[in-house]
Amino acid sequence: MTTAPAIPEREQWTGQVGFILSAIGSAVGLGNIWRFPGVAYESGGGAFLIPYLVALVTAGIPILFLDYAIGHRFRGSAPLALRRLAGKLGEGLGWFQVAITAVIGLYYTAVLAWAASYFVFSWDLRWGDDPTGFFVGDYLGVAAEPFTLDVVPSVMIPLVVMWIVTLWILGAGVVRGIQRANVVIIPLLVVAFLVLVIRALFLPGAIDGLNEFFTPDFAALADPSVWIAAYSQIFFSLSVAFGIMITYASYRKRRSNLTGAGLVVAFGNSSFELLAGIAVFSTLGFFAFQQGVAIGDLEGLTGVGLAFMTFPAIVSEIPGGEWVGSLFFGSLTLAGLTSLISVLEVVIAAMRDKFDLTRAQAVYGIGGVIAALSLVLFGTTSGLTALDTIDNWANNIGIVSSAIAMTIIVVWVRRSGGELARHLSAVSTFRVGPTWLAFTGILAPAVLAYMLVTKIIDLVLNGYGGYPGWYLGVAGWGAVGIMVVAAFVLPQLRWRRDPDHFEAWPSAGQLARKGGAR
Ligand code: ALA
Repeated sequence: MTTAPAIPEREQWTGQVGFILSAIGSAVGLGNIWRFPGVAYESGGGAFLIPYLVALVTAGIPILFLDYAIGHRFRGSAPLALRRLAGKLGEGLGWFQVAITAVIGLYYTAVLAWAASYFVFSWDLRWGDDPTGFFVGDYLGVAAEPFTLDVVPSVMIPLVVMWIVTLWILGAGVVRGIQRANVVIIPLLVVAFLVLVIRALFLPGAIDGLNEFFTPDFAALADPSVWIAAYSQIFFSLSVAFGIMITYASYRKRRSNLTGAGLVVAFGNSSFELLAGIAVFSTLGFFAFQQGVAIGDLEGLTGVGLAFMTFPAIVSEIPGGEWVGSLFFGSLTLAGLTSLISVLEVVIAAMRDKFDLTRAQAVYGIGGVIAALSLVLFGTTSGLTALDTIDNWANNIGIVSSAIAMTIIVVWVRRSGGELARHLSAVSTFRVGPTWLAFTGILAPAVLAYMLVTKIIDLVLNGYGGYPGWYLGVAGWGAVGIMVVAAFVLPQLRWRRDPDHFEAWPSAGQLARKGGAR
């Protein structure tokens, strides 16, 4: 029997609005603006919206609710809440999720630093006539050798600034830091992005871009990789299954409308995704029109190339392109910043719970170590290759494995699905029952397991991005290895305070007296 005192009660959002804005801030990020348009285009255009919606309804929203229920009922960071639910096994999964976010935090900040630089570059269209050469050569200084660590000042400086801003917001706490940043940034982001979308829609050729984006290629639906892309996109984009929503829900008050808020967040996130697709494809339509080619003949329509090579080239052609570029890269920076905060808060909260650290110790100590590593990996010539590889493994292997493990442990090993469904229904306006449980416990893990196996086979047989096998072993499988080691090692360390001393929310009395959710 341990005699250690209980873990102190947590800071709380001031109310529903603060939480919803922060959760939307977490969800709407690089995944929406930077990744969605390209993935949708590659995966059948308009037809992609079908697997996307199926993935949202059958896995995204159900697992979002699961995250909320775990975080709120067991009031802890991912390792603490999952331990209270499922003992050491649960704690291990929690640390696996913490390691995913630590890895994502490393490169996510780098893309933000690029976006912030391009916000400034937009003012005088600094990339000139050759945006690709400028990005890869002048700006990133990508080495011919992918694994060299020479410092690139043009990236290092904004990266340092990004880390200082992020740690400063996190250091100020849940309400004064995270909530306040989101309450200011999200409305600003919505306005900036709407202006951008409207401007894009009025460009000549925009309609052709929209046709390209929305015209379905139904044959793509028969391709399993399109479905895999849809599920991966939803998980990353909604910030589910890697500890973020467990952590954010742990800061909610006892009587909090969880599912109602979840639906608002999911709807907000997908709306943003669609708007990003509309903005990007309208501008691509314009670009193709200018060049007198079909959109399908344009190159660099996905990922890093789309945002940092193709888009700057388009901006140079648009009358008043300076402010279109500023709006785009400014939005990308703001959206990414609010997501990055949530990604790192997973690590901060977990370290505080386990080792009884103050917020300042966790933010500046642990956050400082992650920042230092990020500077070495991404402020140097190896940045682009490392980012591409780690991102692929963290998402397709890390997050998907975590989602499978979580649904199986909760629903099948601990048989806590019913308890969590009752929890959600007791505090929320939108009740959940057997359908939620069937999606969470059966459909989602089955589909995700299929995806995971397919992806692993593909990576083992075909490699990735044409990079050498040793490099994929170190950066890709190595990143997953770190997650697995964290899952096994950290649960062995001693808790400074008693993690199991707590009362699950809401109490039975309150359940019975449910007097309307807030
Ligand atoms: N949900 C965040 C994004 O979409 C991580 O970028």
